[in-house]
Formats: sequence, C-alpha cells, structure tokens
Amino acid sequence: MTIKELTFKAGQYLKEKEIEDPSKEAGLLLSYLLNKDLSYIYAHGDMELEESIIKNYFELVERRGNFEPFAYITGKCEFMSLTFDVDPSVLIPRADTEILAEAVICALGGTFFWSSLSLSEKVYKLPPKPDYKGLDIGTGSGCLAISISKFVENITMTAVDISETALEIARRNAVNNKVADRIEFINADFLSDEFGLKDKYDIIVSNPPYIPDEDISSLMPSVKNYEPLTALKGGRDGLVFYRELAKKAPLLLEPDGILAVECGYDQSEKIQQIFSEHNFETTVLTDFSGINRAIIAK
Ligand SMILES: C[S@@+](CC[C@H](N)C(=O)[O-])C[C@H]1O[C@@H](n2cnc3c(N)ncnc32)[C@H](O)[C@@H]1O
Repeated sequence: MTIKELTFKAGQYLKEKEIEDPSKEAGLLLSYLLNKDLSYIYAHGDMELEESIIKNYFELVERRGNFEPFAYITGKCEFMSLTFDVDPSVLIPRADTEILAEAVICALGGTFFWSSLSLSEKVYKLPPKPDYKGLDIGTGSGCLAISISKFVENITMTAVDISETALEIARRNAVNNKVADRIEFINADFLSDEFGLKDKYDIIVSNPPYIPDEDISSLMPSVKNYEPLTALKGGRDGLVFYRELAKKAPLLLEPDGILAVECGYDQSEKIQQIFSEHNFETTVLTDFSGINRAIIAK
C-alpha cells in the first residue's frame, strides 16, 4: 500500500470515529512513525510501505480512534516553543496556558518573542532584582516552571505536585530543557494543613485543577478517559484550590509579590471575589479566543 492510500484509509477511519481534522491526524501519525516531517509524507504519496510498518501504523490509528490524545501516543508536546515529554501521569500542556507563562515572564521583566508587548500594560510588574524566587503549585509536566526559568534567567523556582510520577516527568523535562539546576521539585499536598514551605517567593504561579467534580463525566473522552483526574478535579464548585491559594499565598509571598493563576472560562469573577476577600488587587487576562483565562493578583 502507498503512503497516499494508507493515510486516506486512516483518515476515513478517524473521520468515522469523529476525530477532529482526521486527514491531518492520519498524516501526523505516519510522520511520527516514520520519524519524518509532515511535508515528507505529503511529498511521497506514491511510496510503498512495508507490511510491518502498515501494521504498526494501524495500531497507532486505532489508539487515536479510541480518543487517546496524540501527545500521549507520541510522548511529546510543545509548550512555549519548548518540547516536553508527557505521559498519562501528567496533564498535556495546553496552548491556553501559555498566556499565564507569558504574563509571569512579563511580570519578571523577561521577554517571550511575541506577546509581552500586549501584556505589558495589563500585568503587574515586580521591581527589578538580581535574583527572583518563584513557586509553581501543581507543576505536572513542569511546563510553567520550566518555561518561566527558560525565559527569565535570574529566577530559581520551586515546583510542587502531589503526584510523584508527574514529578519524575517534570524533572526529566527540566534536564532536557537545561534548567534543572534552577528548579527544585517537591512532592507535597498543597491542600494539606501540613503544607509548609519556609521560603518567601516573589511570584507564585498555578494552573490548579479547576473542573467542578460533577462536570468531569461530561468532558471529552480524550480528557476524561486519559488525562489524570488529580489534574482536573477542583472540588464541588471547582474553586477549592483558589480558596487555598488566597489563604496560603500571603504567607508565602514577599510583601510586593504576585500571584498568577489560570482559571476556567466562567470562573474569573468568582476567583477575583475570593482573592479580593483576602485583600488582593486583581487583573484578568484573556486567552487567544478572548476568554478570561488568567488572573494576576498582588
Ligand atoms: C491542571 S494540572 C496543571 C499541570 C501543569 N502546571 C500545566 O499547567 O499543564 C494540575 C496539577 O496539580 C496537581 N495537584 C492536584 N492536587 C494537588 C495538591 N493537592 N497539591 C499539589 N498538587 C496537586 C496535579 O497532580 C496536576 O499535576
């Protein structure tokens, strides 16, 4: 079978399974399997493939047809132009979360090539300092702590997660992205009364679990059947972590410190309310789709 015939058949199968953009996914899966660019796949439509490759390819296509996320199949994902290893113990970093990383980088005086200009009027800034300390609560793959460390050279980060298996991936990602010497990874439960970091931080960043528990069953199968529930469940109303952050952040922040969090599409007002009850001033940032996606508080 040729590449063209094979990807056409796979595309049809993925379409029947209601996978979005089935033809492209079919091409991308073959590009991953052959370790070639997508352009190579498109340019070599008449190339015949061996039986063993065809068999392996259809195994991948079937996994994708069962809604296994593409990133878990390949074990890789891109965030802030950096490459991260992922497996089902970590949430797959989302493009929506980049606004939070960019806001923190902007607050710390760093630059990320395209966005900091539009953010700079909205984001609170920290006074310049030779060395900043940052804390990432619920680090998962480490995408926030690692990208912030990559784009802000004078920061050291502490990254906390309740999941030791997630931390193993995060540590590997820090090594691969060459920032492991500036990030300490700690296994701890942020919701526990025992959570007691002694340091003070200039900035706390968090993309906490924020899906209300009862909404989990209505999430897309690729999310609810594959991504870790501990990364999703935010308690009865999805706001448990924000209440805890509002309570604990003042004890963990320097007096002029900043708290920066991601939130669900309909949660920003409630979170601003929670934060203002704890004497935080807040500003809201929208993501690329115009949805309120991040709250910066001081
Ligand atoms: C929404 S994910 C965010 C992961 C990553 N920061 C990102 O933006 O892609 C939330 C993370 O919080 C972690 N987590 C859940 N409950 C926690 C707790 N009580 N204490 C610390 N971390 C927790 C989960 O294991 C998960 O890695």
